[in-house]
Amino acid sequence: MFAKRTFSAESVRRRARVGGGAGRGGARVAEGACPRPRLKLRARAAPAPLTHLPELVHMANSERVVLALGGGGLVGRGVVKALLDRGFRVAVISRDASRLEQLKAFVSPSTRDNLITVVGDIGSEEGAEEAKKAVLKAAGKVTDVVSSLGFSWWQGGPPHTQNLKELLWVLEALLLSTFVSWKAFFPLVRDDPNCTYTFITGGAGDKVLMPGTGFLTVGAAGALAFCQVLREEYPEAPCKLNQLKVNTGVAPPERMAPGYLNHLELGEAVAALVERKTDSHKVFCIDTPADLKTFLQ
Ligand SMILES: NC(=O)c1ccc[n+]([C@@H]2O[C@H](COP(=O)([O-])OP(=O)(O)OC[C@H]3O[C@@H](n4cnc5c(N)ncnc54)[C@H](OP(=O)(O)O)[C@@H]3O)[C@@H](O)[C@H]2O)c1
Repeated sequence: MFAKRTFSAESVRRRARVGGGAGRGGARVAEGACPRPRLKLRARAAPAPLTHLPELVHMANSERVVLALGGGGLVGRGVVKALLDRGFRVAVISRDASRLEQLKAFVSPSTRDNLITVVGDIGSEEGAEEAKKAVLKAAGKVTDVVSSLGFSWWQGGPPHTQNLKELLWVLEALLLSTFVSWKAFFPLVRDDPNCTYTFITGGAGDKVLMPGTGFLTVGAAGALAFCQVLREEYPEAPCKLNQLKVNTGVAPPERMAPGYLNHLELGEAVAALVERKTDSHKVFCIDTPADLKTFLQ
C-alpha cells in the first residue's frame, strides 16, 4: 500500500528534527556483545525513485474536503463548526445517527449543506473501509483529515479493580480506532503536499491525572506513541502530518472551568492549522487558553 520513495532534502531535515537520525533500529549494539543474535535484521530494499510528486498549489477552502474523525464528539464538534465557518466541506463518521443529527443542528445553519454525515464504525478494518467508500461516494475526495477519536474522560479506578474488558475498551477508543482509521485514510492524503492529517491528543498520556485514571493514561500514552511513530517512520511523507497535544480539559462554553479550553476556540485553532498548511511533522502543545490565543496569531 505504501510505496517506497526517495528522501527529499526536506525529508532528511525532518528526519533529523524528529530524532530519527540514529537509524530505524534505534539503539546501537556493541561489537561482540551479542555473539548469537536471535533476531535476523533484514536490510530494507532501496527506495524506488519518486516520479510524480504533486506540486504545492493554492486550493480554496471550498475545494477541500476535511474528514473529521470523532467529529460528533466534544472536541470534534468545535473543529467541525470552525472548519465549516471557514468554507471547508466537512465529512463526519459516527456510529450514532442521532449524534450526527445533533451535529447538524449545532453547526451554523448557512454552512449545513457543506456537512456530509456517514453512519459507520471505524473501530475495525472492515468498518473503516466501508466508511471510506461511503465518504468518497458522498464527497468525491478527502483532502484533509482531523482525528480526535477517543472519549472525554475515564476514571474507572486503580488497575487492581479493573478487568481486561475495561482495558480493551480504553485501548479500542483511544489507540486502535486511531490506528485503524489512519491506515484506511492516510493513503488518500499521504502523497500530496496540499493535504493534511492532524491528530488531536491529550496530556493524560504523560502522567496519571488523578487517582483512578490509570487506564486513561495507558490509552492516551498509546496514542501519543503512535503519533511519534508516524512522524519518525514517514519523515518523507509530503502530506502535512501534525499533532495538537491538548494538555488541559476541554469544555463547551456553558460548562467552562478555570484553565479549560472552550471547544469552539480549540476548533478555531485546529481549523487555522488545517487552513494554513505551513507546518509538518510537528507537535503543538496547548497547555492553557492563552496558548490557544498565541497559536491563533
Ligand atoms: N475532552 C477533553 O477534555 C480532552 C482534553 C484533551 C485532549 N482531548 C482529546 O480529544 C479526544 C476526544 O475527546 P472528546 O472529549 O471529543 O471525546 P468524545 O466527546 O467522547 O468524542 C470522541 C469521538 O470519538 C469517536 N469514536 C471513537 N471510537 C470510534 C469508532 N470506533 N468509530 C467512529 N467514531 C469513534 C466517537 O464517535 P461516536 O459518535 O461514534 O461515539 C466520538 O465522536 C480525546 O480522546 C483526547 O485525545 C480531549
